[in-house]
Amino acid sequence: MLHFLVICNFHYISVMIADLILSRLDKDPTVKRHLLKTVSWRVVGSIDTVLLGWFITGQINTGAKIGGLELITKMLLYFFHERVWHKISFGLPSRFKKAEKVKAENAGNLFRQHSKITRQVREELNGNKAFTIWLTGLSASGKSTIAEELDSWLFGIGLRAYVVDGDNTRLGINSDLSFSKEDRAENIRRVAEICKLFNEAGTIVIASFISPFEEDRARAKTIIGDDLFIETFVDASLETCKERDVKGLYKLAEQGKIKNFTGIDSPYEPPFAPAIHLHSDSTSLSACVGQVKNYLTKKGIVSEVGVLQAI
Ligand code: ADX
Repeated sequence: MLHFLVICNFHYISVMIADLILSRLDKDPTVKRHLLKTVSWRVVGSIDTVLLGWFITGQINTGAKIGGLELITKMLLYFFHERVWHKISFGLPSRFKKAEKVKAENAGNLFRQHSKITRQVREELNGNKAFTIWLTGLSASGKSTIAEELDSWLFGIGLRAYVVDGDNTRLGINSDLSFSKEDRAENIRRVAEICKLFNEAGTIVIASFISPFEEDRARAKTIIGDDLFIETFVDASLETCKERDVKGLYKLAEQGKIKNFTGIDSPYEPPFAPAIHLHSDSTSLSACVGQVKNYLTKKGIVSEVGVLQAI
């Protein structure tokens, strides 16, 4: 009877574990890798155990029994041990450390090419100065709406501008990045490089990214260039953003269905001294856009007629 119960329970537990693993297989390719590693390592390990058991006891049967039991129990232990360690980043080299190593290895073999047609020449042809308006703020703070309005205004006065937006780049070039701190840093580094290229080509960029960490924004500024980077804080309180919740993401984050959501379980570090500070929860859209226009025109960066001015 006891035997029967043990077999039933073992069968029940194996079906549950198999179900759990199979349901994960499609969602996470690392499960396949861990399964294969589990089997390959256990086969090698258990052959070793059988041989050792045979060698010590002088009986092949005893060796085979120990090896057989070990094959099953240790396979389960190994697989779950791997899955737990997969979640722990301790001891792994960070993306930046890896990148630094590759950069150092390549340093002597890469040579910057300088274009004869400089940014200044392109700016003259385009009739506008090239720079980046960097919009930072919580999700639903109004960054994208303000970006679109600014884009329309610049287009309307005949200047070449383009919006680089977080959701869009994350659907394309950055589709391999998560919302971990490290991946956000990489997200901002890559998009800053994109903004720099647009600026080099003589185009104004309106960059719209949560960019919650000061360190990442500072890196973006260095990449784009201090004089071309106009940090603009789109400041709306978390309460307002939660109330708006246009994409329904705050609700999901509060239910724990989205992890690392800015403002919920991931921090937002407000800029210390943004060039432009927009209070998008208490000021109208047109007033916010007007504030940016004023800044650009006062500084002589653009004028309503789109004449090229010194930045
Ligand atoms: S950033 O933090 O790395 O700068 P980014 O601006 O590119 O973020 O992308 C933010 C957009 O991704 C938001 O507009 C939102 O629609 C979506 N999103 C999905 N998951 C998250 C999350 N965990 N945290 C913040 N935004 C998220």
